[in-house]
Amino acid sequence: MSKVKSAFFCQQCGFESAKWLGKCPACQQWNSFVEEIKHKDTKPVANRWQQDNHASSGIVKLHDITTVDERRVITPDAELNRVLGGGIVPGSIVLIAGEPGIGKSTLLLQIGLQLKDQIVLYVSGEESDQQISMRAERLPFSNQQLYLLTETDTQKIFQEVKKLQPDLVIIDSIQTLQTPFIESSPGSVSQIRECAAEWQRYAKATHTPVILIGHITKDGSIAGPKILEHMVDTVLQFEGDRHYAYRILRTLKNRFGSSSELGIYEMTMTGMKAVMNPSEILLSSKEDSLSGVAIAATMEGLRPFLVEVQALVSPSAYGTPQRTVTGFDLRRLQLLLAVLEKRAGFPFAMKDVFLNIAGGLKVEDPASDLAVLCALLSSYEDQPLQHHVCFAGEVGLSGEIRSVNRIEQRIAEAEKLGFEKMLISRNNFKNLQKSNATIEIIPVSKVEEVFRLLF
Ligand code: TYD
Ligand code: MG
Repeated sequence: MSKVKSAFFCQQCGFESAKWLGKCPACQQWNSFVEEIKHKDTKPVANRWQQDNHASSGIVKLHDITTVDERRVITPDAELNRVLGGGIVPGSIVLIAGEPGIGKSTLLLQIGLQLKDQIVLYVSGEESDQQISMRAERLPFSNQQLYLLTETDTQKIFQEVKKLQPDLVIIDSIQTLQTPFIESSPGSVSQIRECAAEWQRYAKATHTPVILIGHITKDGSIAGPKILEHMVDTVLQFEGDRHYAYRILRTLKNRFGSSSELGIYEMTMTGMKAVMNPSEILLSSKEDSLSGVAIAATMEGLRPFLVEVQALVSPSAYGTPQRTVTGFDLRRLQLLLAVLEKRAGFPFAMKDVFLNIAGGLKVEDPASDLAVLCALLSSYEDQPLQHHVCFAGEVGLSGEIRSVNRIEQRIAEAEKLGFEKMLISRNNFKNLQKSNATIEIIPVSKVEEVFRLLF
């Protein structure tokens, strides 16, 4: 007889407790405990995915380990390779998380279809075979070796996997899976944790890469316990505004590469298309200058980007002025407004301020500060900035323009796109290698100086 047992789990971090707690002792979250039924596992462990030849290998000298050159699977998708740090590592487990409808299933199906000569198993717990095949018909790729399985029971999936011996497994999605060894419902913390652990054992034992699709909760974090992110090797976030065609695949964690990489796709009628030269599409090609627009030379990962910052400053109609941002940190905007007010004497306290990063992009690079500041000044004065000028500099609390990293790459990108002038920090300017660049570099050290140069 098996014994039914329940326990309380923190929905935030997966902490397990025998009794209900108001505050999680592990992650300090309030009111996050939910009771889940655990099935006391009395079946022989051999029923589970067994790593037959994966018994503990005992202590070994690091020196004695001969590393086999891990041959990554280079996918035909350059953007995916980039965010994974150069292809899929065998035996790795990748989590791709994103909001509903953002295109996770489409992206992974098209990757499966593009991996010719590889046996790919696409497991779906969300859609039927017909739905997946209808989606595949819209995509301009085909792979004779792509297999579909609509199943949510992990043990049944493993049985099929043993027969098929795939080269890549795609799970859509981890929240729909259910292991029979735990009795709580799919999507609960203990289910997600256990299912992910089973796939992790499978991936490590067979050296097969596994890609898990994950959902995102209302507040934008990956649904399920934080421990899920710790268990996997790579976490990618698929984001973008559903009203825009552009989608961004961002690396949040990567055991095999840089964790600040970014891939850009465009959602088209025939699937996701990689965007190779993002700056060109992110800048509007209007020839007439508008007030409140400035171009920032930012970096995302190792890639330089030019993005358009749009600001609107208008007299405040109500007592409390509004500050609204899209794609930029609100607190960072408030800081920049305070700097402008204190150091350059602009009374923003009486103004509503709206800030938008064009193209639905989110900018986190501090080097975009200078462009934000110039866009604000331009809108305040209602004067357009000069044509073909871009900006790269961090703004400090005392109004100083601080240097930013990889300035040479930013300058090269601006030059490539035909910009004629670029404002950068004086500290960056001092260390700049002499180059035969045709772009004019203007050094600035204070906010006041920027204002004099612009108008
Ligand atoms: P989907 O991959 O189902 O999103 P997720 O798995 O993240 O929930 O994406 C669904 C959206 O993508 C849907 O609104 C239709 C659109 N779409 C295209 O625009 N072009 C296409 O070629 C395909 C297959 C879907
Ligand atoms: Mg989906």
